Amino acid sequence: MLHIRHITKSFPGVRALSDVSVDFAPGEVHAIVGENGAGKSTLIKIMCGIYAPDAGEVVLDGEPVTLHAYKDALDRKINLVSQEIQVIPKSTVAENIMLDKLDRYLSRGRIDWRRINQDAARYAELVDLTVPVKGLVAGLSTAQKQLIMIARALSSDARILIMDEPTSALTRHETDNLLQLLRRIKSEGVTVLFVSHKLEEVLAVADQVSVLRDGSLIGTRPIAGLTKEQIVQMMIGRDARTLDLGKLDVSAGRAALEARGVSQAGRFHDVGFALHRGEILGFYGLVGSGRTELAEILIGEARKDGGDVFIDGKLARIHSMADSLFKYRMGYVSENRKEKGLILSAPIRTNIAITVWNRLCDRFGSIQLAAETATARQFMQALEIRATGPHQMVSSLSGGNQQKVSIAKWLAAQCDILIIDEPTIGVDIGAKEYIHQLIWDLAKREGKSIILISSDMPEIINVARRILVFKDFKIVGEVRNNGEDGARVRGYEEISQEIGQFLA
Ligand SMILES: Nc1ncnc2c1ncn2[C@@H]1O[C@H](COP(=O)(O)OP(=O)(O)OP(=O)(O)O)[C@@H](O)[C@H]1O
Ligand SMILES: [Mg+2]
Repeated sequence: MLHIRHITKSFPGVRALSDVSVDFAPGEVHAIVGENGAGKSTLIKIMCGIYAPDAGEVVLDGEPVTLHAYKDALDRKINLVSQEIQVIPKSTVAENIMLDKLDRYLSRGRIDWRRINQDAARYAELVDLTVPVKGLVAGLSTAQKQLIMIARALSSDARILIMDEPTSALTRHETDNLLQLLRRIKSEGVTVLFVSHKLEEVLAVADQVSVLRDGSLIGTRPIAGLTKEQIVQMMIGRDARTLDLGKLDVSAGRAALEARGVSQAGRFHDVGFALHRGEILGFYGLVGSGRTELAEILIGEARKDGGDVFIDGKLARIHSMADSLFKYRMGYVSENRKEKGLILSAPIRTNIAITVWNRLCDRFGSIQLAAETATARQFMQALEIRATGPHQMVSSLSGGNQQKVSIAKWLAAQCDILIIDEPTIGVDIGAKEYIHQLIWDLAKREGKSIILISSDMPEIINVARRILVFKDFKIVGEVRNNGEDGARVRGYEEISQEIGQFLA
């Protein structure tokens, strides 16, 4: 029913897609996978009229169609949930959900708000969004905003529903609910296109998978009989590795960071832990278990009502992120990079150098462009950020490459203590291996002390050597992941079971 034929698309300095053809059938979930920058979002944007292809065509019901804008796609019942969070913060949840069709509620010059709210509530319930629909969107979490965008796409009876990494901010529960919903939607004959870096989801829900690499289609295969390893092989052209990261030299002496008796009304009560120099300490738990919230207290983004934080054995007074960074050399790589981490309208070099401006400034106080560019280049190379150069705007990078920029920013800050929150959400498998190695090297080679917050069990077991398990704003357990000499001696199964017991 929907075909794309010989699509080619270039941007200045980069060919995003070359000669890509795929067929999509009614009632199928068709996954599109590939590394960061492979061209997935570009393909989707062409199918939604957001970009025009340089060559090739989109064929719908046997007719080539020309889509000049997203509106044209909507008119043909092609709906998109984009990779970027696009909501209007100052409007209500209901308005955001019904955004594309508010005009349908207009009669005799009046908008029927009661019906809008009623209908919106139905779609909110469908995606398991449990906030009042009359409330404003501002202040909601990233996951809630993502659910609003999904509800919006569902509300317009799409024939073709396109979702670009819809689950990147969702919890396990919300994700399961969404996958269930997709199965139901496809049984009604809707075509679902689904982009995800989480191959477990792809295997669970897709019927077909198309793999892109460097803008070319590697192939389209039925999911039945396909393994995760085979998909990875198609994506990156080699097998995935589980790196054996080796052994860390953790200093047993004075803690780099210690929290004692930290309390916050309604949340934490008397929480304490110590992070040693050169250590990678894992914070594991479900989304909402208090890991990020504790990190926010440590870096001065949130207030505590009691307790103390010591850095290098001395009582620390941290009232803002600037205190944390400039007085105590402690940085925080936010999980919320899409919204908080980057200045999208600025070039890569400015984003990377933002935390080191005070060092790059010359004596007249202006930032030296050359120094900024050099710093940016160094990190772009180290993290393999795919871009035309340090001057490229962050807004025109692929989603995963934007993530890498925000990580680079904190690496550039040269902190002694780094809190890294969900570093590999939205990044591809190759980059994930790379980021794991990088976190490891920071501790091993540069003696940095690192807290790694992650909901990804393999990730935390592979990278952290001691893991604190969080549940309901409490530290409910500590799992050691190494032998006396610092090397990992226990198997994955054993450690994951022990973590599971604390969470039960
Ligand atoms: N508006 C734009 N201007 C310039 N270059 C762009 C633009 N949009 C995308 N690109 C480039 O095209 C290439 C493909 O990007 P695309 O966003 O399609 O990747 P992707 O597969 O969606 O990656 P990710 O998994 O990181 O989201 C990248 O090199 C990207 O930098
Ligand atoms: Mg993308």
